[in-house]
Amino acid sequence: MAKIRQSRLLAKKWLTLKLEQSMLFILTVGFLMLLSLGIFSLPASKDDSPPIDLTIHRRMDFERGNGLGKRGEQWIELLSWEPRAFLYHNFLSKEECEYLISLAKPHMARSSVIDNNTGGGKESRVRTSSGMFLKRGQDKIVRDIEKRIAEFTFIPIEHGEELQVLHYEVGQKYEPHFDYFIDEFNTKNGGQRMATMLMYLSDVEEGGETVFPNAKGNISAVPWWNELSECGKGGLAVKPKMGDAILFWSMRPDATLDPSSLHGACPVISGNKWAAPKWMRVREYRT
Ligand SMILES: *[C@@H]1O[C@H](CO)[C@@H](O)[C@H](O)[C@H]1NC(C)=O
Ligand SMILES: *[C@@H]1O[C@H](CO)[C@@H](O)[C@H](O)[C@H]1NC(C)=O
Repeated sequence: MAKIRQSRLLAKKWLTLKLEQSMLFILTVGFLMLLSLGIFSLPASKDDSPPIDLTIHRRMDFERGNGLGKRGEQWIELLSWEPRAFLYHNFLSKEECEYLISLAKPHMARSSVIDNNTGGGKESRVRTSSGMFLKRGQDKIVRDIEKRIAEFTFIPIEHGEELQVLHYEVGQKYEPHFDYFIDEFNTKNGGQRMATMLMYLSDVEEGGETVFPNAKGNISAVPWWNELSECGKGGLAVKPKMGDAILFWSMRPDATLDPSSLHGACPVISGNKWAAPKWMRVREYRT
């Protein structure tokens, strides 16, 4: 009697064990299937984590609303391949634009151009705006903007010169010029200028366009053609709009200087123009 009970007990134990084993088997198969379907993934160790996905990063940056204020819908428009130029809609928020202006306003000085012989600055009738330089990374808001520029241009923050804030009043302008250097002095720190992100901090009622007189293509095909000043109609032109930015390259993809990057600031006819260029070098720029 006792023996029978013992063997029954054993049989029960054996059955439980078998049941547990099959459960474990089913769970393992299920887990492997989910894994192979990519429904979930094992946490990767720090060393073999995938490279940063910039699209995801950028989308997160947008969704988090990093930076001061709220930016409107952001999208990028191709302006031209010669020069390589792109229009970034709502790159800055209204609050960021106003903040940059408020930082610069008390310290504006007459803008200068580079003297080809000495590499130093000099006043010229070619450039009649006033401006000032902010320190790279000088505060949280400036750092946020510089980080955004780096992410959208794929050029590290360290390659950027100090952000400049420029003010053009009625009649003020910058005649067509290159951002790259012709002198030998200015390339010692950081090498040649590679690209420029020009941010518009204000709207301009009339005039004040950025114009590329050497641009290839049909310059009158832009949708805003009828709103351009005479000067603006002299090339591929962009009308300043608060928060928008243009990125243009002074170098072709093969790293040679691109003369089609010639550009100017048309005279302001009515209103006020505030803009902030960020020049980026081929190498790290020490500030
Ligand atoms: C510097 O040299 C370039 C090319 O020779 C010329 O176009 C430019 O006007 C010069 N700039 C000044 C300020 O003299
Ligand atoms: C340039 O574009 C305008 C507007 O789309 C068009 O009317 C004109 O015919 C174009 N010109 C040439 C030379 O293609």
